[in-house]
Amino acid sequence: LSNHQGPTSFSPSPEGERKHATVLFSDLAGYTAMVEKLDLEEVKGIMGRIFERAGRIAEKYDGTVERFFGDEIMVLFGVPIVHEDDPIRAIQTAMEIHASVEDMSQEFERHNGITIRMHSGINTGLVITGEKNIGKGRHGLTGDTINLAKRLTGIAKAGEIVIGQGTYRQSKDHFSHQAMNPIRVKGKAEPVQLYKISGIKAQADLLSQDNERQVYSEMVGRDRELNKLKLQLAKAVDGAGSVVNVMGEAGIGKSRLLAEFRKADALKGAMLLEGKAISIGRNLPFHPIIDLLKHWAKIRDNDCEISSLSKLETAVKSVSREDADEVFPFLATLMGIKLTGHHAERVAGIQGEALERLILKNVRDLLSKASDMVPLVLVIDDLHWADSSSIELLESLFRIAESKRILFINIFRPDHSETSEKVCCILKNDPSVYYVEIVLEPLDTNFSEKLIGNMLNIEGLSNTFKKR
Ligand SMILES: Nc1ncnc2c1ncn2[C@@H]1O[C@H](COP(=O)(O)OP(=O)(O)OP(=O)(O)O)[C@@H](O)[C@H]1O
Ligand SMILES: [Mg+2]
Repeated sequence: LSNHQGPTSFSPSPEGERKHATVLFSDLAGYTAMVEKLDLEEVKGIMGRIFERAGRIAEKYDGTVERFFGDEIMVLFGVPIVHEDDPIRAIQTAMEIHASVEDMSQEFERHNGITIRMHSGINTGLVITGEKNIGKGRHGLTGDTINLAKRLTGIAKAGEIVIGQGTYRQSKDHFSHQAMNPIRVKGKAEPVQLYKISGIKAQADLLSQDNERQVYSEMVGRDRELNKLKLQLAKAVDGAGSVVNVMGEAGIGKSRLLAEFRKADALKGAMLLEGKAISIGRNLPFHPIIDLLKHWAKIRDNDCEISSLSKLETAVKSVSREDADEVFPFLATLMGIKLTGHHAERVAGIQGEALERLILKNVRDLLSKASDMVPLVLVIDDLHWADSSSIELLESLFRIAESKRILFINIFRPDHSETSEKVCCILKNDPSVYYVEIVLEPLDTNFSEKLIGNMLNIEGLSNTFKKR
């Protein structure tokens, strides 16, 4: 992960300094039952295993384990290593710790009937570093942010992750949440709003937010780039598919260009499917592909397993009724949706490379068939954050564009060796794929001034409304 979204800064923490940080507390629910049923050595052994796994997960996300104490884990994000997405990292860490303990729990349930689950609280805000003789942890942190994080852990029931307002603000685009009852906190006049994490957001849910943010002011410049995209779309509709890479630095306007492209007339006769890689996605196999398939099958975040399964089956059948029983189990497996009955039997016992090959074959067949019915435009935004399995899968999918009505649009920041650079390299060296590059350069002075002018205008207008 650190290769892909390197720390924005590393700052040693002198004593008594105020820092912006995200604090995660995870506690074991079922600890008392465990202590009553097992002897002390066994309990210590179990806690040791949990701590060891939690430590590895935290490390993966550049979190610092502050302490393991009794049945409590405290992990810090933003001290000493700062990332732009620390709250997201903290939530992902908690989710993985929870999943890992749930895995362990199955073993205990079988042996001595004990169920173990974690419950976590996460809060973001100012912490005071340093006073090592006061605090128990490595950085000896103190402050209200920490106290509240600990309190949230108490509010979270077994299996739940409860977060405070600051964490929510910086993570709400990535995770779905449920608002909880506000609580009163010492030193704050107003009650504090809390949220419970209910899942990772799917593209279908993100799209509306993206559009809201992106089509904020008129697009300035970029006519040439937009026309290039439209040209490739027209060609794909006519049967000459291709792969387009849209590249540029953070904030240069890649997603804005995509928002404009969504309005293209020619898209009315095509099916546009989007997937989005996320900054913590290096550790989530196939995330952007799964996201895109969820978008296609209209699976939403709050769909339960049964409803996701039935939506997926309907979608597969709409493309290929005769092969549905073959394609559907592999697609569901790729998407991590649990199968039942004869569908579960179809994939039972198939593992490793054999499973990967079958998944790949079925995704490829499905997209090929779908493109016979309607031209497809498959977009992956923020591809620089994708995991290696997604890149490999895409690599073999790109080839179908050659003979099918499929346009792939990959959007990414350059200079990520395992993803962006790899995709460019694959495409440059594959003569069987028609490949187009769109590099977004900074807007020239005239356009930049126009853009700023437009934004100030909108600001001005909204201020006028507020005054009224
Ligand atoms: N040409 C443009 N005309 C109008 N607004 C623009 C233009 N380019 C960028 N913006 C605005 O600037 C902001 C950042 O652009 P955008 O989100 O598209 O960047 P990005 O290249 O996708 O960055 P990231 O790599 O972080 O995803 C957005 O609010 C967007 O609407
Ligand atoms: Mg973007």
